[in-house]
Amino acid sequence: MSSENGGYFLYHSIGQYPAKSADFAAAMSEFASVWGRADDDQWTYLLSRRAEFVDLWRRLIGAAENTVTTCENVTQGLHMLVTSLPDDYLRGRKVLVAADCFPSNHFLLSGLQERLGFKLETVQLRQGASWVEDEDMIAKWDRDVALALVTWVSSTSSRKADMTTLAAHGRAMGSLVGVDITQAAGLLPFAVDAPAVDFVLSTSLKWMCGAPGAGILYVRPELIDSCQPQLRGWFSQDDPFNWDIDRFAYAPDIRRFDNGTPGIVAAAATVPALHWHAEMDKAGLLAHNRALTGKLIAAADDLRLGLVTPREEAQRGGSVMIKLRSVEAARQLIPQLRRHQLYADNRGAILRLSPGHMTSAEATDRLIGLLQDTA
Ligand SMILES: Cc1ncc(COP(=O)(O)O)c(C=O)c1O
Repeated sequence: MSSENGGYFLYHSIGQYPAKSADFAAAMSEFASVWGRADDDQWTYLLSRRAEFVDLWRRLIGAAENTVTTCENVTQGLHMLVTSLPDDYLRGRKVLVAADCFPSNHFLLSGLQERLGFKLETVQLRQGASWVEDEDMIAKWDRDVALALVTWVSSTSSRKADMTTLAAHGRAMGSLVGVDITQAAGLLPFAVDAPAVDFVLSTSLKWMCGAPGAGILYVRPELIDSCQPQLRGWFSQDDPFNWDIDRFAYAPDIRRFDNGTPGIVAAAATVPALHWHAEMDKAGLLAHNRALTGKLIAAADDLRLGLVTPREEAQRGGSVMIKLRSVEAARQLIPQLRRHQLYADNRGAILRLSPGHMTSAEATDRLIGLLQDTA
């Protein structure tokens, strides 16, 4: 591991593993050679890459066959799901979301509320808090909530929601429960049926180290039956080659969420990363993250900097967010870190640090040293 790569703290943004560049290039080179060959083998190859991508994701989240499909990103997957629900399902009811959800999901839902006739209920942070508490979510979660979107791990605080409690409450209220697992998929174990949830969204580009454009949507089999995706096309059918325009019928499973010819490049580019991840010792990946995040938390305490991430391991994802003295201090620190081959980012005065597989303890100590100089 080179010391340059050891200074990488951006797993909340893009995940890296040592062979990523070579794997990506090989996958794209193979793709190009198949796609550019004057024979008739293209679709067999491409569709099998897509199936492999879906299968690897399915295994990661414990999803049954025909319950996971591709989407470009989380926002798009959420749109696919929400607009597929029966016409009267959301009308006159509430959709519940926390204010610290990924903003893109909020932008989508707030725009859809008028069109689909639901009220978006956004649970706010308490004064001075860094994340929305589960109990505040539950306090607003009544029988009028048709659907709740839970962010498993927040991108601003790395705080992990208690899915068991939230899903049980959602079930009791008769709501559909969806989870955005983007910020911890591949780092923390997750299973679609423990606790059972109705839909799951993620991208592949963070801890899974995949390509942009390789999102996934899981839908619980019992829910699939009642979904009628708005964006539909020949690939939404059991047999895409049914071209009888008077005889469209949705596929009986997740394939109904497909529409026209699927874009497979991002999935194919991501397959090697998913294999890499599948073969890794998951407990080891997490233990490495825990050791380095523990160091960062201790350093923040020593320097009397505010911790914007829960202290308890069980309540956090893979990042440590630290509040610096000012936005200016954060703005100055990032390029200074870069000069030392240390890569992090900031949101306002908050420094975001996510050590992963390639991040070294030595680089973490160097980063802490620089933090000491600025604090
Ligand atoms: C919690 C969470 N959800 C979703 C996303 C990405 O959303 P999209 O794939 O729509 O860009 C991110 C990216 O940082 C995220 O942290």
